[in-house]
Amino acid sequence: MQVEILGNTQSAAKQANALVITTKEAVARVWVYSPTVIRVNISKNTDVADTSFAVIQKPADAIDYKETGDHIEVTTSALKLSIQKSPLRFNFYTADGKELSQDDNRFGVNWQGTRVVNYRKLYKDERFIGLGEKTGDLDRRGSSYTNWNSDVPDHGPKSDPLYETFPFFVGMHSGLTYGLFFDNTHKSYFDFGATTDHQMSWFGADAGDMNYYFFGAQNVADIIKDYTWLTGRMEMPPLWTLGYQQCRWSYMSAQEILDIAKTFRDHNIPADVMYCDIDYMDHYKIFTWNHQTFPDPKSFIDKLKSMGFRLVTIVDPGIKVEPGYKQYDEGVAKNYFATYPNGEKFVGEVWPGRCHFPDFFRDDVRQWWGASFTALTEPGVEGFWNDMNEPAAWGQNIPWMVKFGNYYIPEVRNVYGMEMARATYEGTKKILGNKRPFVLTRAAYSGTQRYSAVWTGDNSAYDAHMLLGQRMVNSLGITGMSLVGVDIGGFSGDPTPELMVRWNSLGVYTPMFRNHAMQGTKMREPWRWGEVNEKIIKKDIEQRYKLLPYLYSSFYQSHQTGLPVSRTLAINYTQDTMIYNPSYQNQFLFGDGLLVAPVISTEHTVSVYLPQGEWYRVSSSQHYDGGHTYTVDAPLNDLPVFAKGGAIIPMQNVIQNTNEKGDGILEINVWYGKEASHFVYYEDDGSSYDYQHGTYHKREISFDPNHAHITFGAAEGSMTSKYSRIKLVLHGFNGRMKNFKVNGHAVSGTDAVEFENSGKVITIAY
Ligand code: GLC
Repeated sequence: MQVEILGNTQSAAKQANALVITTKEAVARVWVYSPTVIRVNISKNTDVADTSFAVIQKPADAIDYKETGDHIEVTTSALKLSIQKSPLRFNFYTADGKELSQDDNRFGVNWQGTRVVNYRKLYKDERFIGLGEKTGDLDRRGSSYTNWNSDVPDHGPKSDPLYETFPFFVGMHSGLTYGLFFDNTHKSYFDFGATTDHQMSWFGADAGDMNYYFFGAQNVADIIKDYTWLTGRMEMPPLWTLGYQQCRWSYMSAQEILDIAKTFRDHNIPADVMYCDIDYMDHYKIFTWNHQTFPDPKSFIDKLKSMGFRLVTIVDPGIKVEPGYKQYDEGVAKNYFATYPNGEKFVGEVWPGRCHFPDFFRDDVRQWWGASFTALTEPGVEGFWNDMNEPAAWGQNIPWMVKFGNYYIPEVRNVYGMEMARATYEGTKKILGNKRPFVLTRAAYSGTQRYSAVWTGDNSAYDAHMLLGQRMVNSLGITGMSLVGVDIGGFSGDPTPELMVRWNSLGVYTPMFRNHAMQGTKMREPWRWGEVNEKIIKKDIEQRYKLLPYLYSSFYQSHQTGLPVSRTLAINYTQDTMIYNPSYQNQFLFGDGLLVAPVISTEHTVSVYLPQGEWYRVSSSQHYDGGHTYTVDAPLNDLPVFAKGGAIIPMQNVIQNTNEKGDGILEINVWYGKEASHFVYYEDDGSSYDYQHGTYHKREISFDPNHAHITFGAAEGSMTSKYSRIKLVLHGFNGRMKNFKVNGHAVSGTDAVEFENSGKVITIAY
């Protein structure tokens, strides 16, 4: 197969809002989406049909460019795209002329058959982060990856590809940052200098266009904002999904689930969610119940609800081939399933045996699928777990000629899971009316954050997998996915009690906190690990519930800006080389103010790196200056968590589940810092969409050490807070700010400050 390299410009002209350049090999189109986002599409097709599954924005109406002799320049207030005409190459600069990223001038964009690749210049100090759910190090320099959504039950810390595809990365060099989203759903490849003798980085796909969005914001947080502006942001999650979730493949009967739920309550261990894995169904037929073991789903779910639990049930895409089964009959009658080119329905084997696969790319199929959820919602299910949607089929190699409508599977395999999650989300949202559904999916593509949470699939019960899971959660955050979980405890294998305890304490700081395990493994619930360990697990889960006001406000940030709850340090400390060191790369910020250092189960001390600024160990209030490494104690009952100087952390008292009201006191913890800081506190009803119409309670809380002032801004939104009182708790002040003011009201250093949520300050002497 010949290599065809993008050659000399033949014509360049404006067509509507695009700049269109032709060469002998292809047509290149350039659109400006915003001052920091430019799209380049290089295609062998002259008429580009824009069929992005990810992008929800449209380009600007006009494009401005300037032609000089051998270059064309597209300039925005933030970016300059300098297009070399012959051979045609695309080179990006900041508006003031700093080089961000260039094509490799020799090879640029080229083809081998249908395969399309872009070779780009690699800078000496260039690092890369991103690609979502991928193994390997935080800094992806020197690594290569493939995107091909796959069911990989036994994956290890080096396996690739995995279940999800997020072809978006951030590059950084020379103190500069840029982002690149290769929106091509075919099997795709990324090589960050791994096999080019560090000459080039490259990305490409088996077919389709060289179609990418270039992001030029000069910090990682703004690049994530732009990427999630382009591909969408999550809605507010139901509050109950942020509580503790207990799952297993499978709790075999309604009675078993009720017993487990009751044991949580008997042991006073907070929890919100129970799961039904595949065995609740009749022979794994989706949208059915096994009437022997789940004889009365409604009364079962009512009982769970009366104990303060929600139920999530699993659904897989495979529809069992069985005449007489509703979904099968309807799907066959209406031709809703994937076919071979001759129209015969494709059959693949999954849990139910021989199955057909719905064509989620069709609107009518998505609607049909969505409407089928009444079988689950009527008895009261509120969460819908979408599994096996890579799609998985035993043997894995669904033939390339299998078709979903007009698409052959190689073109759309990577988006199948997202379209299933979309169908589930849109359908259940319609059925549930004003109630927020919860959708969890295993397979995903860029944009999935609009519909669903994700988890990292079938992990294993060993330390390296726990650390890998954390890196994947952090990396998914770069690609717009904030509500993310891992199977706490490890899906396959049995954790030691120490690992279970450790992983559970890390789970407190995992956006979605779900304990899940494979069939045949030891039972995993908190009380299975001996009294001492149960106590630690309980204390940690309680900490999660105390942090819920902080966590919910952090999700509001994800909803508003796309910034994830779990943040690799590369977002805030991009230029600090220490954070990429494999010893520290698993550390992360949980929201704005907490830094968490994961620790393996066999170590009881750990070396942590605290970036610039000042830090306090939350459990002891010990102060640390940033910019150094420290060896700190990390006993099993005290995972190292640090508050940043200036952190403002709203907390509440321990509740047993998110339906409970608590004592009505919102505790605002302020950790002393030398610089002014602020936090947006956010609250809504936690379950409806009313927040989209102004029913919320939001206020900015600011801390200004220089003027010895803590300010609670005016409340915005029409909702009254569920907390009637606010209690201010100061940490690390040590006499600094002895006489300070809260909203102008003088307070002495010996006062505990409480006030009514209306703003009236009541000080109480210690
Ligand atoms: C897959 C899922 C796992 C689930 C199992 C049975 O392996 O990844 O979470 O428990 O199927 O449904």
